[in-house]
Amino acid sequence: MKLGFIGTGALTSAIVTGLKSLADDSVSVLLSPRNAEIAAGLSSRYPDVRVATDNQAVLDDCDTVMLAVRPQVAHEVLSELRFRRDHHVVSLIATLSREEIAVLTAPAEKVTKALPMPMIAYGQGATIIYPPDPGTAALFGKLGKAIEIEEPGEFDALSVVTATYATYFKYLDTIHGWLKDRGVGEARARDYIATLFKALAHAPEMAPDAGFMHLAEEYATRGGLNEQVLREMTDRKVFDLFGQSLDGVHRRISKS
Ligand SMILES: NC(=O)c1ccc[n+]([C@@H]2O[C@H](COP(=O)([O-])OP(=O)(O)OC[C@H]3O[C@@H](n4cnc5c(N)ncnc54)[C@H](OP(=O)(O)O)[C@@H]3O)[C@@H](O)[C@H]2O)c1
Repeated sequence: MKLGFIGTGALTSAIVTGLKSLADDSVSVLLSPRNAEIAAGLSSRYPDVRVATDNQAVLDDCDTVMLAVRPQVAHEVLSELRFRRDHHVVSLIATLSREEIAVLTAPAEKVTKALPMPMIAYGQGATIIYPPDPGTAALFGKLGKAIEIEEPGEFDALSVVTATYATYFKYLDTIHGWLKDRGVGEARARDYIATLFKALAHAPEMAPDAGFMHLAEEYATRGGLNEQVLREMTDRKVFDLFGQSLDGVHRRISKS
């Protein structure tokens, strides 16, 4: 497979790093020249990764093309390019629908949406794919879990989950900052938090039939400390507000 990327940023870097870490890697990669530093770094690290002279050269030399530019520049970048009917376009652009991408990449007949996460660089996480496509699922399946979705509405709803990563880290940072203010060393606090949350992340896997609220209740001993924080945050409508933010992201994703 000759795999091209339009947009060489954080996500492209993660995908290429993941692919090139595979023992049975056989994918030849061609990168668009922006970002120059990231593209140069990847091509110097991996023998079968090259940097094209421009975006059109990526299209001309590849059969599968991943779109990994930010949505704000997507219209401008894609409308300047000449796609072929036989190109397989895989769009990673979270906020543009498959229909919008199909218009921008016409006459390419095969357009797939995929939503990987940066941890794909280490073979972790899950990529949702719409519509189901065995080739795309096989590629991302080597880099973690690939989940093929039949309904665009379900794809959009699942996409909202990927908008919560930064908030998760802010949550951990709040605990970290609180410990720091109480004189706990930064490194010790970080290590303690990271170790505890790594263990908590395994809980759903260890109890596959338990709902998340069941797990919450298991940790919230009646009259205990976890119950206090959960109750106070619930009373202050923190989770209701969080739900409203998810609604806002959903509206943005499914606007078209
Ligand atoms: N990061 C994630 O976790 C994640 C997850 C799922 C989906 N996505 C989606 O993936 C896309 C890329 O995200 P990202 O995090 O990788 O963003 P990013 O790090 O900003 O990468 C985008 C890259 O596009 C390059 N670019 C700008 N103008 C260009 C042009 N005219 N031609 C070619 N390349 C151009 C930028 O180069 P310069 O640096 O030179 O401007 C930048 O390196 C976004 O649409 C995002 O919605 C991201």
